[in-house]
Amino acid sequence: MLDNHKKIEKNSLLLLVLSLLVVSIGGLVEIVPLFRIETTIEPVKGVRPYTPLELAGQNIYIRENCSSCHSQQIRTLRDEVARYGHYSLAAESMYDHPFLWGSKRTGPDLARVGGKYSDEWHVAHLKDPRSVVPESIMPTYAFLMNQGADLRRIADHLKTLRAAGVPYTDDMIENAYNDAIGQASGEAMAEGLRQRYGKKVTARDFDDQPNLVSEMDALVAYLQKLGTDIDFKDYDPDMMPQNPVNAKDK
Ligand code: HEC
Repeated sequence: MLDNHKKIEKNSLLLLVLSLLVVSIGGLVEIVPLFRIETTIEPVKGVRPYTPLELAGQNIYIRENCSSCHSQQIRTLRDEVARYGHYSLAAESMYDHPFLWGSKRTGPDLARVGGKYSDEWHVAHLKDPRSVVPESIMPTYAFLMNQGADLRRIADHLKTLRAAGVPYTDDMIENAYNDAIGQASGEAMAEGLRQRYGKKVTARDFDDQPNLVSEMDALVAYLQKLGTDIDFKDYDPDMMPQNPVNAKDK
């Protein structure tokens, strides 16, 4: 045995090849299981797929490249958690295709912006950011008010996402168009939507233009959903046991 080892130690090429072999076994054991997404992301109660209107809003977010200035990922650092709320969980973006974590923060992180402001605030801010935040350098998006949200192929979009693993049911796909209109029309038309997507779905005329389901409706519906799936009431956002700073001052 030791003699064999001597041989390996004296032959640098053999040593290299065998070392690589041993190291790659470790790599395979760690990396291969990650390709099976079900075992990678822990399911978390409350996380649901986007409603059709929110999805239309996400499409606008992508089209306007809001990610060039906004991230959607709160890291586990104390200052981030203090500013934005509980750090992002992997499950919270498991239905994002593509994910919109972003890497640039000219503006604040938006992972938990849902419910932080009223619809009126969002509409005023998107129409003219300077009207609510005088020092803002964010561009204006007033034109979203006048354009109807593109819902013609929203059912196909749900179907495509289902192929990528998002659990949309036949019922959801069949009703996609009506659900989108319903969500922007207020409570009265939201019953089916709630049955399909859960009680927490917000159904309102987000931009206060009853005759038009505008791109503004869709984008605000999307923003108001971000980070609201999980009930963190039972969690203390500052309490991060893995962070030694917290362990000390608790
Ligand atoms: C050029 C960079 C830039 C782009 C592009 C941009 N924003 Fe912003 N955004 C900012 C800045 C800077 C702020 C902080 C000042 C303010 O509130 O206006 C901000 C603030 C916000 C806020 C308030 C966040 C908070 O927690 O206070 C929201 C919501 C928002 N942006 C949404 C969007 C959306 C949606 C888009 C795409 C349609 C977008 N932004 C595109 C720079 C940008």
